[in-house]
Amino acid sequence: MNRETPLTAKPGQGALAGRRVLYTGASGGLGHQTTLDLLAQGAEVFALDRDHSKNESLRADTPPDVAARLHLLEMDLTDQPALTAKLAEITATAPLDVVINNAAIYPSKPFEEYSDAELRLVHQVNVESAIVCTRAALPGMRDQGWGRIINVTSITLTGGWENLAPYVQSKGSLLGLTRAWAREFGKWGITCNAIAPGAFPTDAEKIHPDPEGYRKFVLDHQAVKRRGTPHDIAAAILFLASDGAGFITGQNLAVDGGWNMG
Ligand SMILES: NC(=O)c1ccc[n+]([C@@H]2O[C@H](COP(=O)([O-])OP(=O)(O)OC[C@H]3O[C@@H](n4cnc5c(N)ncnc54)[C@H](O)[C@@H]3O)[C@@H](O)[C@H]2O)c1
Repeated sequence: MNRETPLTAKPGQGALAGRRVLYTGASGGLGHQTTLDLLAQGAEVFALDRDHSKNESLRADTPPDVAARLHLLEMDLTDQPALTAKLAEITATAPLDVVINNAAIYPSKPFEEYSDAELRLVHQVNVESAIVCTRAALPGMRDQGWGRIINVTSITLTGGWENLAPYVQSKGSLLGLTRAWAREFGKWGITCNAIAPGAFPTDAEKIHPDPEGYRKFVLDHQAVKRRGTPHDIAAAILFLASDGAGFITGQNLAVDGGWNMG
């Protein structure tokens, strides 16, 4: 079945009115604003993040008129039995329309210093959780003939920084899954795309020893001479989640100010 049914949102309801969205890592540096933008567009958001203080900050910033559509799921993605049970509970009442696989950890050190356990943990958080979330949402999406899966990859897959071997490996896996899922799910009206953020000034960057030098390095590489903001990520996610993006699948959309092209 492939109905590609557009939702008939009433004026003022927002482009994603009625859509149920699962968003992992939703309270993070890029997720916080994107969650608010999804809510502003009418979506019901299941915002999953393990970080209590970030979750509370997201809750505090959520306007009261949309708060009823925000469901904060404070849980750890590495607890797969709990994750599977929670997803079963959510999908038992209605299908998920959009899954955004965004949560990630990004340890940085020379390759030889990673233990097997550390390598496995990055894979578990960054890749296996995406598989669990997508698997849970798939039957409902297939039955309704509409779905959007959005995997968040990274500019580091294309070039740049060293000492990120397990992270880059995990983003490569996500891109592979993006393409495989796109081919397999397209016949059911489900698209699967990735977005590859460039260098955004989030918490990870604050520990940089030379912030001004790093800023110059980033701007020198970008065609657009300003730093990216979470709104730039939100705009790409909102587009890929929309009805209008229904003919786009299997792509890795760089949101990096024109750092990488092609
Ligand atoms: N910020 C950037 O410049 C940048 C660049 C390239 C790619 N990205 C990608 O964008 C996405 C978001 O990045 P960000 O900058 O918002 O990172 P972030 O660290 O601010 O957010 C990630 C969120 O995931 C959550 N998380 C991590 N492990 C978890 C687990 N086991 N269970 C539940 N939640 C968990 C964290 O609590 C955090 O809130 C990531 O996939 C990242 O790889 C970011």
